[in-house]
Amino acid sequence: MELLESAAAMQQWATAQRAGGQRIGFVPTMGFLHPGHASLMALLRPQVDRLVVSVYVNPLQFGPGEDLDRYPRDPEGDAALCRDQGVDALFRPPDLYPDGFSTSVSVHGLTEVLCGATRPGHFEGVATVCARLFGLTQCQLAAFGDKDFQQLAVLRRMVRDLALPLEIVGAPLVRDADGVALSSRNKYLSESERGRARSLHRALFGMQQRAAAGERDVAALLAHGRSLLDADRVDYLQIVGAEDLQPLTGLDPAVPARALGAAFYGATRLIDNVAL
Ligand code: PAJ
Repeated sequence: MELLESAAAMQQWATAQRAGGQRIGFVPTMGFLHPGHASLMALLRPQVDRLVVSVYVNPLQFGPGEDLDRYPRDPEGDAALCRDQGVDALFRPPDLYPDGFSTSVSVHGLTEVLCGATRPGHFEGVATVCARLFGLTQCQLAAFGDKDFQQLAVLRRMVRDLALPLEIVGAPLVRDADGVALSSRNKYLSESERGRARSLHRALFGMQQRAAAGERDVAALLAHGRSLLDADRVDYLQIVGAEDLQPLTGLDPAVPARALGAAFYGATRLIDNVAL
């Protein structure tokens, strides 16, 4: 596995691979890698000739008072996991943006709702870093998890709208044995917070069960979900159209719907979602 520690090194490597006719797959991450990240690598590995993973904690997507300064890091563990997954190049630059960097990418409509409502600028930071990473890695395939359902929708839209020459692949959400969605941020949870964090997926699966049993009324489904949710603060619990992310009032079997939640356990904000 090659370690690439600057944007120039990444660009040179990618250019050489593409000149040799290699098909490049890419998994962008912020590190502290876990089996959710590994699942994205395993999904792409058989579909590409060269697999690139980036580890970069992107300041552009953190708001003031968020956890940029204490985001967990584990460079050695990350490299070992990537080696195990057969990654060809690990891109981990200390800085990613050139002097005078002055571009940002805004995807409207999809980013004002859900996480975008309480994290202004977050998705602009995500779209901007991904646009730069796609340019540097020259990837033809990039994988993102359903764990960050809104992020995946935003990036699909960006790639379509800007006609970027790559395909986005979505991957299923990987959960811990107790059902909690794997996340680098789970490291912040105390034992009691971790216990209560299970209520987030229970609320979502509870809504999923009611919907499967025939409940179509979104207000009734949300009331049921809220009754199961034991969090210190609920950012949102919503049912939206899976494509446009706009709130629904009723379920329609012809329209794919998604239930999503974001909640605080202590100071830690967790997100999760299920298909309805
Ligand atoms: P990060 O949170 O490190 O996640 C990197 C990728 O792993 C994302 O596509 C995310 O959806 C996926 N992922 C995380 N936990 C997962 C789980 N439990 N199951 C399945 N996939 C999971 O998302 C980011 O980083 C950043 O916003 C990034 C895209 C790298 C841009 O900075």
